[in-house]
Amino acid sequence: MIEPPLIRVEGLVKRFGPFTALNGVNLDIYRGEVHALLGDNGAGKSTLIRLLSGFHRPNEGQIFVGGHPVDFRSPRDATRAGIGTVYQELALNPLMSVTRNFFMGRELSVGPKPFGFLRMNEMNRITHNEMIKIGINISDPGQAVGTMSGGQRQTLAIARAIYFGAKVLILDEPTSALGQRQQMEVLKTIVRVRERGDIAIIFITHNELHSKLVADRFTFMALGEVIGRGSNSELAGDEIRRLMSGGTAINDLAFELESARKQV
Ligand SMILES: Nc1ncnc2c1ncn2[C@@H]1O[C@H](COP(=O)(O)OP(=O)(O)OP(=O)(O)O)[C@@H](O)[C@H]1O
Ligand SMILES: [Mg+2]
Repeated sequence: MIEPPLIRVEGLVKRFGPFTALNGVNLDIYRGEVHALLGDNGAGKSTLIRLLSGFHRPNEGQIFVGGHPVDFRSPRDATRAGIGTVYQELALNPLMSVTRNFFMGRELSVGPKPFGFLRMNEMNRITHNEMIKIGINISDPGQAVGTMSGGQRQTLAIARAIYFGAKVLILDEPTSALGQRQQMEVLKTIVRVRERGDIAIIFITHNELHSKLVADRFTFMALGEVIGRGSNSELAGDEIRRLMSGGTAINDLAFELESARKQV
């Protein structure tokens, strides 16, 4: 039996007043793949992600998770369905410890909340182990998140989403605010998560090289529509660049001008 996609998006339309931000988008995301979602500014990538993570509801179309139709009424619904979104802002508190950030709102305690004692040792141990699994050795999980590098923070947010049940990880431009070395940290984290084989990653980026380095498949959007798809082996760098910028390239324009010349 063929496994259904982890996520299927069918004919999604999202309007903001008179403006159509998504105009009938179809997309399948499979277990174990890194799927790059690319497109110029305003293409509708973040809007699509907000529908998948329960922040907006579509005007038309349907989202399926594991083959079943879903109707997310809140971000919590999406989290419960196994969709974990890591935003650029990350929702981390730099003043709090790595462990407290890891558990934020889901702390382990003894006795009834809110009066019980936190099981700090156990929480520290879990945080340390989960970070090791994903390739970062935090010697002291009691240290403040503010002391970690930007790449490590991204990794912490990713490890947290996976530990709390994400089967689909959505990363909206996780490398764009980082320096070169830290970008590599995040790419390594993506590769390690991919190696597990059970999680799908939707990776939004403007960096063609990054997508080529880690993605298995690509979907290109422009003005609210999908304008191209392909696997890593099918797509050459200049084709990726062309589709990323909305499907036009200097070569296309030159070709158009050339055919215009032939017609006169
Ligand atoms: N809440 C909103 N109200 C009105 N218009 C919106 C809203 N959210 C997004 N849009 C519009 O929808 C279009 C798509 O925006 P979106 O943020 O999804 O693009 P994007 O592909 O993520 O772009 P970028 O690469 O710049 O992040 C834009 O024209 C944007 O102005
Ligand atoms: Mg965006």
